[in-house]
Amino acid sequence: MTETIQTKPTLVLGGTGKTGYRIVDRMTARGLPVRIGSRSASIPFDWEDESTWAPALQDVRAAYISYFPDISIPGAPEAVRAFAELALDRDVRRLVLLSGRGEEEAQRAEREVQETGADVTVVRCAWFMQNFSEVDFLVGPILDGEVVLPAGEQLEPFVDADDIADVAVAALTDDRHIGETYELTSPRLMTFPDAVGEIAAASGRRIDYVPVSVEEYAAGAAELGVPEEFVEFLTYLFGEVLGNNAYVTDGVQRALGRQPRDFADYVRDTVATGVWAAPTADRVG
Ligand SMILES: NC(=O)c1ccc[n+]([C@@H]2O[C@H](COP(=O)([O-])OP(=O)(O)OC[C@H]3O[C@@H](n4cnc5c(N)ncnc54)[C@H](OP(=O)(O)O)[C@@H]3O)[C@@H](O)[C@H]2O)c1
Repeated sequence: MTETIQTKPTLVLGGTGKTGYRIVDRMTARGLPVRIGSRSASIPFDWEDESTWAPALQDVRAAYISYFPDISIPGAPEAVRAFAELALDRDVRRLVLLSGRGEEEAQRAEREVQETGADVTVVRCAWFMQNFSEVDFLVGPILDGEVVLPAGEQLEPFVDADDIADVAVAALTDDRHIGETYELTSPRLMTFPDAVGEIAAASGRRIDYVPVSVEEYAAGAAELGVPEEFVEFLTYLFGEVLGNNAYVTDGVQRALGRQPRDFADYVRDTVATGVWAAPTADRVG
């Protein structure tokens, strides 16, 4: 390992989110100093307020860049570039960018950050498994026992946020990952109905998957009062992005020298946490 001695903290943007908190936990466990970058952090960081960026970057050695809400929304590539330029300006050369697969704007965001000349590693990810169990739009439907989605039979190799965090920590602590783009997936292509079915079977609950068209889904979400921008984003994700990435990759193996975790590993561990537990009356079998 060419791990550098780390006395200055690593800034972890989205450090309380699905990938960020796992990175913070791993680095802290190794005795490596971290600074959380989010609106609720002790040094607040807000993508919407550029005046918060420089204080967050003050005296850090590296940064994990997780844009919010999504790297592919309008303005995101420009924002991450501006952040990377400011980081370089502050002598923070080592940047690890969290990105998405098969999305034109996400890939443009990657180039924007790479073109600054910083020492960049791109961690380009499939849909996170944890969207089914941690703060996200799928958790409520899973708990309610009915998942209405326009996902059809499209295949997706969901990736475990634990694998993403392992790769990000490796990249943040070992210079051999500079210049790499790691595309991360699990080893198995699945449909959304498959995923919901595995969660239902393992948690012993009835969870119905209800297929709808993208138009029906958008209309239903709007009726429920989901903000228009978010409805548009979900429509884009299911209508245009899902299905573009129906192949598995060797990114976890290349970065870490081990196999990625399977959806079954995630489901087994998540059932054990109790987040999917339901009242006894809802149980099947
Ligand atoms: N979810 C997926 O399946 C997936 C797949 C591929 C790529 N990605 C990419 O991963 C990134 C993160 O997405 P996620 O869904 O996993 O979210 P997440 O990291 O779970 O998001 C929550 C985090 O963002 C912070 N945050 C919220 N609003 C913020 C703001 N205005 N400024 C700064 N920080 C803010 C939150 O902390 P505070 O509330 O304290 O601010 C929290 O730390 C996105 O860029 C997305 O494109 C996601």
